Amino acid sequence: MKKLLIGCLVFLGTIFSSCAESKNVSVMKNEDNKVLVAYYSATGTTEKVAKEIASATNGKLFEIEPEKKYTSADLNWNDRNSRSSVEMNDMSSRPAIKNGVVNLDSIETIFIGYPIWWDQAPRVVNTFLESNNLKGEKIITFCTSGGSTIDVSTRTLRETYPDLDIMQGKCLNGTSKSGIEAWVKNLGLK
Ligand SMILES: Cc1cc2nc3c(=O)[nH]c(=O)nc-3n(C[C@H](O)[C@H](O)[C@H](O)COP(=O)(O)O)c2cc1C
Repeated sequence: MKKLLIGCLVFLGTIFSSCAESKNVSVMKNEDNKVLVAYYSATGTTEKVAKEIASATNGKLFEIEPEKKYTSADLNWNDRNSRSSVEMNDMSSRPAIKNGVVNLDSIETIFIGYPIWWDQAPRVVNTFLESNNLKGEKIITFCTSGGSTIDVSTRTLRETYPDLDIMQGKCLNGTSKSGIEAWVKNLGLK
């Protein structure tokens, strides 16, 4: 009888401790959520990459949404008068975005992703950067493009926001899931 009682106690103890462990794991996951992946994507290419980065970093995904969506006519780079051409010709253009302010509680690293437009980040990215207090955050750029590198766009952002800690990331055109995971791992984020 005594043996049976001890056996029951050991069994219950095991159950309780495994419950406590699984609770800890989920709490740790929340605490680990130090990464925000903010992106703008007009036609879905950058969005796909953003989702891979969020999955590789356990990061929070945040889509920068223009108040007025860009139509295909707006995106026509052959038309000097298209919305994107006009905005990209004007360094001070700041198209309104729907959801400007993002919750940065616990966030230490922000990936900021965009399609390259005329070698630059679309102006909605500037609107986003200026709508939030990002001082003290580590900001890492990423992009997709038709072939341009990320260099010029990140240099411009760094020059425009000298108070922000902006690190040049990568153009991730056609990079595989494992390639994105390897890139993120190499950044050595804590
Ligand atoms: C207005 C406009 C300008 C662009 N300018 C460039 C450019 O200068 N260099 C380049 O390689 N690709 C350029 N592209 C191509 C996009 O960067 C590329 O298609 C990108 O992957 C689209 O991403 P998204 O689907 O997330 O919007 C341009 C596209 C648009 C709409």
